[in-house]
Amino acid sequence: MPIEQTDTEVILTHPSDGSSSVKVLLHGANILSWTVAGKEQLWLSEGAMLDGSKAVRGGVPLVFPVFGKASSGPTSTLPQHGFARLSTWEFLGQVSANPLSVQFGLGPENVHETFRKSWDFDFTLIYTVVLGEDTLETAMRVENTGKVDWEFQLLFHTYFRIPDIDKVRVNGLTGVAVKDKVSKSEYSESNTTITISSEVDRVYEDVDQDIVIASDGKTLFDISRENVDDVVVWNPWVNASKNMGDFRPEDGYKSMICVEAGSVSRWTTLSPGQIWDCRERIKSLL
Ligand code: BG6
Repeated sequence: MPIEQTDTEVILTHPSDGSSSVKVLLHGANILSWTVAGKEQLWLSEGAMLDGSKAVRGGVPLVFPVFGKASSGPTSTLPQHGFARLSTWEFLGQVSANPLSVQFGLGPENVHETFRKSWDFDFTLIYTVVLGEDTLETAMRVENTGKVDWEFQLLFHTYFRIPDIDKVRVNGLTGVAVKDKVSKSEYSESNTTITISSEVDRVYEDVDQDIVIASDGKTLFDISRENVDDVVVWNPWVNASKNMGDFRPEDGYKSMICVEAGSVSRWTTLSPGQIWDCRERIKSLL
């Protein structure tokens, strides 16, 4: 069966290659696992809570309508990264058999009252997940179904599983403007390749190239994007990992890197009836 559904999850298996699959938790529409040729591509914390009590630490959490914490405006009283990852999405079913593609939906009726009080706008999110033999595509459609303008940020917070953080290189960011949340500074990226040897938390703005994650000179992932122009690179390293109760094992930072495609460096405004679409495609060469 290419699509299996339980009360809490939807699992897709590639029709011609049973060893490629993707598993989506309805809570947060959080992708928990993506395998290619039987090999896991994503990092999921051993301490991740999958019961809906908190956002999932790992896989692909969805960030909407705010990235991080806003200092003012209607999103400023929402929790960090918004409510999409804290809400249970509806499974809308299969969209196509080839490529195998399914959709999930979120609207105000699925969002907790507390969050609705802070951000009381009418919207529809349609999340499409497409499984290829060695690719994973995620697309989001955001629609303003209300009567007033509102603004949002959005991001695919992908936790990639990697063999060794010391050997990982992230390419495609040279010359890009960076907001560095660790050094609290802004600069243009001068390195031709990014290496990680301490905590990294950077927002790269308006990146026009594909991003390549490599290790030992070999490409692991090639990431292309449409309308998600910003790229966040995050690795918590030793201390920040310890400070997250759900980040396990504690040295898990050695086998993960978050490279997150989003629209977060500015706000996008949607008027009533307006629709905004974006897409990310990850090819695994692991
Ligand atoms: C990243 C942010 O996208 O997410 C970091 O840039 C943040 O600042 C990280 O620490 C994890 O966030 P959270 O809310 O899942 O702990």
